[in-house]
Amino acid sequence: MGRLENKVAIVTGAGMGIGQAAALALAREGAKVAVADIDDAAGNATVDQIRAAGGEAFFQHADVGSTDDVRRLVEETVARFGRLDVLVNNAGVAIAGTVTEISEEDWNRLINIHLSGTWRGMKFAIPHMVRGGGGSIVNMASVQAIMGIQGWSGYSAAKGGIIALTQQAAVDYGGRNIRVNAIAPGTIMTPMNEKIFAEAEDPDELIGTWNSWHALGRFGQPEEVADLVVFLASDESSFMTGDIIKIDGGMSIKGC
Ligand SMILES: NC(=O)c1ccc[n+]([C@@H]2O[C@H](COP(=O)([O-])OP(=O)(O)OC[C@H]3O[C@@H](n4cnc5c(N)ncnc54)[C@H](O)[C@@H]3O)[C@@H](O)[C@H]2O)c1
Repeated sequence: MGRLENKVAIVTGAGMGIGQAAALALAREGAKVAVADIDDAAGNATVDQIRAAGGEAFFQHADVGSTDDVRRLVEETVARFGRLDVLVNNAGVAIAGTVTEISEEDWNRLINIHLSGTWRGMKFAIPHMVRGGGGSIVNMASVQAIMGIQGWSGYSAAKGGIIALTQQAAVDYGGRNIRVNAIAPGTIMTPMNEKIFAEAEDPDELIGTWNSWHALGRFGQPEEVADLVVFLASDESSFMTGDIIKIDGGMSIKGC
């Protein structure tokens, strides 16, 4: 019997990377999963993988930057699966730039997708969780929210906002048996970073530098973060809420 049998989960940005690994891991533990993404082909491929492994899932196109999309995602999930127990607010984009470099458009995009997207997910999910007697929300922050890394002002600010919002929601809904925690990963090898490397002048040098930032001397893998998502989604973490859990291979203690 899986650790999430009879539970229903939503994972945003589940077409690839950490979100995909999380959706697969939740389904492996018995959860029925709503796979949400703006990339329909990638999202459907995740659903195919879950079904091939014997799990239950469906794909819903949803841009977390759109209030209508997120409302529809939650409604469709509850209509199909009858309840909602777990929400993983994972979807995100990486846009670099210092305070003076970043354009207002990029700044607003980062805040809208990461921070407002996390708020939207919780806004529509929480009423259903309350009706069902409780739930677990996992918000994807970053170590960049708690340490400075050169050139990532908007991204870091959005992730810092997610930490504050996580703590606030944990306080506001703890009495309704809703736990809200955030994960702060170090560098994880996903398509997000593969794209950054592909565009670098010297990808091997950049990969070496980024690896060296971690005490463990290497990137993390999406599956390593997915294991933490499962733990936070499950009753094994029943006394944890408002926690910010670093999973960073020692990046934040070593410094870059
Ligand atoms: N990879 C890392 O090193 C790292 C480190 C810390 C935090 N994170 C965070 O983890 C999360 C996942 O990152 P990843 O590395 O797996 O990224 P990724 O780019 O590999 O995958 C992100 C997925 O989200 C989807 N997506 C993007 N914008 C969306 C939107 N507006 N609505 C719905 N879906 C959208 C993409 O289509 C893609 O499938 C992000 O929030 C990211 O900021 C990543």
